[in-house]
Amino acid sequence: MFKQEGQSLVRKLNKNASVVLLCGIFMFISVLMCMSICSMPCEYTSMENKLIHQKMRQAVVVDKSNSDSIVRTNVKQYQAFLVILLLVGPNQYEERKTIRQTWLSQTPKDVLNYFVLGTENLATAERQRLEGENREHHDLLLLDTFQDSYRALTKKLLEAYKWLDANVDFQFVFKGDDDTFVHVDALLRELRQKPSHRLYWGFFDGRARVKHRSRKWAENKWVLCDRYLPHALGGGYVLSSDLVHFLALNSELLTLYNSEDVSVGTWLAPLDIQRVHDPRFDTEYKSRGCFNEYIVTHKQDRQMMHEKHKHLQRTGRLCASEYRIFLSYKYNWQVLPSMCCIRNDSSIP
Ligand SMILES: *[C@@H]1O[C@H](CO)[C@@H](O)[C@H](O)[C@H]1NC(C)=O
Repeated sequence: MFKQEGQSLVRKLNKNASVVLLCGIFMFISVLMCMSICSMPCEYTSMENKLIHQKMRQAVVVDKSNSDSIVRTNVKQYQAFLVILLLVGPNQYEERKTIRQTWLSQTPKDVLNYFVLGTENLATAERQRLEGENREHHDLLLLDTFQDSYRALTKKLLEAYKWLDANVDFQFVFKGDDDTFVHVDALLRELRQKPSHRLYWGFFDGRARVKHRSRKWAENKWVLCDRYLPHALGGGYVLSSDLVHFLALNSELLTLYNSEDVSVGTWLAPLDIQRVHDPRFDTEYKSRGCFNEYIVTHKQDRQMMHEKHKHLQRTGRLCASEYRIFLSYKYNWQVLPSMCCIRNDSSIP
């Protein structure tokens, strides 16, 4: 029974063999045809893919060279040895005018200076006024990434550093305020001898008490320590461009404290850098007086600026007469920060 059935199956298969073969050939041909038909659009899309990939590669290459340029330069729009950034309010026309007429009036070519202003949500009339001012003086850095207010000072500083890092090939930046007076020649003379990397130069404080109750400057976010970390006071300090690059790269992660100088000290706290304390930066909450050695002096009103500028022009000296209001200090990095800053030496300017 089984044998017979098997034999008849073989016979049937033999009978159908030619049919099976034909079917096979037909299917093979149709598969080939199908493949050749498919191959047109398939290749077309793969060509497109190739193009897209090439473009993407190019885009990545362009991006890379962009980020390289942050270190390597000459792709950037502007070039300067020193950039002076002054944080002023939009309405401080008079302050800007005074600074332009005095200590910024004869800066060398390799110094760029900007008054930094946030234009987000600025009234049209005011914006137009600022643009007019900028057409005349070319020294406003109008950033539309933030709304200007004294509460946004730290944001303003960080936005300015980000812009600087992306657009200027520079070595140092000096940050000052609307009431800062700089002896630019002296600053440049010093800077040309300073190491161009890892420099944080100003008048440091390591024992400043945390402001919890101050209406204007309360630091409610501060939880790091009993005192603020050592920082150069905000009336004027210098950073080398590598530190600005570091801040720009990490800007998304940084805590913005109300005080911009406290913020910078905190942001740079873990870095292996040179913190250079210099009593020739008269940048405390009020001026310590007048000494011809001063490179920077803070809390200067318009009249003081004009007087200092005139005197500097006439005599090469900053002060009509030197005087002291209170003692300065040398920062002692060998002791705890709360003991850093003892005012007991009248030979320090
Ligand atoms: C100032 O105080 C420090 C620390 O107490 C001390 O080492 C230094 O000699 C003092 N300087 C003067 C001029 O008194």
